[in-house]
Parts: sequence; C-alpha cells; structure tokens
Amino acid sequence: MAWLSLEPFCRWLAGTPVSQTIQTIEWIIPALQTVHILAVACVVTSALMIDLRLLGLGRHDQPVAAIARRFLPFIWWPLPVLAATGALLIAAEPARSLRNPVFLLKMELLVLAAGITLLCQIPLRRNAAFWDLSAGRRRLGRLIALASLPAWIGVVFAGRWIAYIQGV
Ligand code: HEM
Repeated sequence: MAWLSLEPFCRWLAGTPVSQTIQTIEWIIPALQTVHILAVACVVTSALMIDLRLLGLGRHDQPVAAIARRFLPFIWWPLPVLAATGALLIAAEPARSLRNPVFLLKMELLVLAAGITLLCQIPLRRNAAFWDLSAGRRRLGRLIALASLPAWIGVVFAGRWIAYIQGV
C-alpha cells in the first residue's frame, strides 16, 4: 500500500522542469550513470582494500590504521556524488526507483555498509593500533570485514538490478 502513496509524488516529480530537461537531453542520463559508476568503483575498491587488510590479506606489512587512513576518504567523499547523481537519475524516471523494492533494498544495504565501515573507523580514532593489538581484536576485525564486503557488493547488485525489476 505504501508504494501507492508514492504514485502522486512520482507523477509530480516527472512533470518538474528538472525531470523534463533530463528526459529530453539525450546525453544527461548516460553521463549521470557514468559518474555514478566511477564513484561506485572508487567506493567499492577502497572498501575492498580495508577489508582485505582486516582479513589479514593484502598489505599486512602495514598497520590497519595506515590502510584505513589512505582509503576511508575514498569511501566517504564519493557518497555525496553517488547521492547527487542517484537523485538526478531518480528525478529522470521517479517510479522506476522510488516504487521499486530493489531500490529500497539498495538503500537499506547502503546504510548497513556505511554503518559497518564506521564500526571499523571509530575505534581507530581513539587508538590507531586498535585492530592490531591482540588476537581477539584481529578476529573481530575479520568479522567486520566478512560483514562489510557482502554489504557493499549487495549495494552494487541491487543498484544494477533496479533496471530489471519492475516497480510496483
Ligand atoms: C547514495 C545514494 C544512492 C542513490 C540515491 C542511488 C541511486 C541510483 C539510481 C537511481 C540508479 C539507476 C537505476 C536505474 O534506473 O537503472 C543507480 C544505479 C546504480 N547504483 Fe546507485 N545510488 C546510490 C548509491 C550507490 C552506491 C553507494 C553504490 C555502490 C557502492 C551504487 C551502485 C549502483 C550501481 C552499480 C548502479 C547501476 C548502474 C548502471 O549500470 O547503470 N549506488 N543508483
């Protein structure tokens, strides 16, 4: 039922000058998708680098804090770019995303992935050696990585699947 209440909003949004402009100028949507995908590549690669290190793979000659310091900015800074390009893609064809359960799943997985990334980042602010201190900490770090990777990969799958699952 909640999806139905979005219908008037989707119709209104599709009639706005912004949506009309994106719909009528051919290169805007492919350009937005390209920027979106480049930002996705940046976020997912950076998350992978940190998670591989937490799993004891990748650059294990360097402390987790050094890898996190290098790659965390490349997770957080592209997110506003993803939100902006995503919002414009939604404006172009509102019902395609806003009334699509896969889009909702994507946003839920995104909140989960961002939350898990914060779980890794916050302890490092107090103690740069937090994840390297003991076997127990390393085990916890591995668990965080094993939750983080599927969450980010899930966002990518859901993002791609929006185009293949019909909105309700
Ligand atoms: C921050 C908020 C975000 C919003 C509002 C958003 C919104 C969207 C929208 C509307 C589409 C187009 C779907 C379609 O019409 O086919 C899309 C595509 C996609 N999104 Fe996002 N997105 C966001 C973040 C992300 C993130 C964080 C990732 C991955 C880490 C991601 C991965 C993708 C992928 C892989 C596609 C398919 C691109 C394609 O092949 O055309 N998005 N997103």
